[in-house]
Amino acid sequence: MKRWTPQDRIIAPSLLAANFAKIGDETSRAIHAGADWMHLDVMDGHFVDNISFGPAVIQAIHESNDIFLDVHLMISRPDHYLDRFIKAGADLISVHVEADHDVAETLKRTRDAGILNGIVLNPATPFSEVEPYLDQIDLLLCMTVVPGFGGQSFMAEVLPKIEAAVKLREERGLSFHIEVDGGIKLETAPLAVAAGANVLVAGSSTFSAPDMGEAIKGLRNA
Ligand code: DX5
Ligand code: ZN
Repeated sequence: MKRWTPQDRIIAPSLLAANFAKIGDETSRAIHAGADWMHLDVMDGHFVDNISFGPAVIQAIHESNDIFLDVHLMISRPDHYLDRFIKAGADLISVHVEADHDVAETLKRTRDAGILNGIVLNPATPFSEVEPYLDQIDLLLCMTVVPGFGGQSFMAEVLPKIEAAVKLREERGLSFHIEVDGGIKLETAPLAVAAGANVLVAGSSTFSAPDMGEAIKGLRNA
């Protein structure tokens, strides 16, 4: 599989916006439209006010395609379920700093399993909460909506956190990806990219676009 660097612009359609009655076809549609990663939003009904899908669905996608699987765990106990998502075929697993677990340990276990790790912070969480972990991560995900649902509006007040992350990454000579998730479309992607994000998650603006290929191309050139 390709080795992705923070210099790459990576477009990651979120399966949450797909038609769940035909997940295989929807994944193929995203791949043919030019998706780089597939973003998989796992919700447990506790950490966020919604329930989506779990390891069995991810394993089925993994077995039917070889696209990079970017798994975003919005669950209260990521440490408890981690091994099942690794086994399901995730290529990257990101966990929330606000969840109930030993964050450093979960990040370490993910890397020890030979896949990439990521840490996520909600819009209301200060950047200082993730600072201690920056030297042990492959990806920092800055939520640009309150997680739980697709189709919400981009929160521009998150942009200074992305700028702070870029600055610290340079100062410490690190090389993690910076991902944004929530409300990303043609109008908002340039703001996130200008701030320093290189991985763009987009649900409704890709899966619900009249032409998914055009939508992904637009985000790639934003
Ligand atoms: C929000 C999820 C997002 C969501 C994005 O809880 O983490 O990945 O699917 O959806 P859009 O792009 O529609 O805002
Ligand atoms: Zn997500």
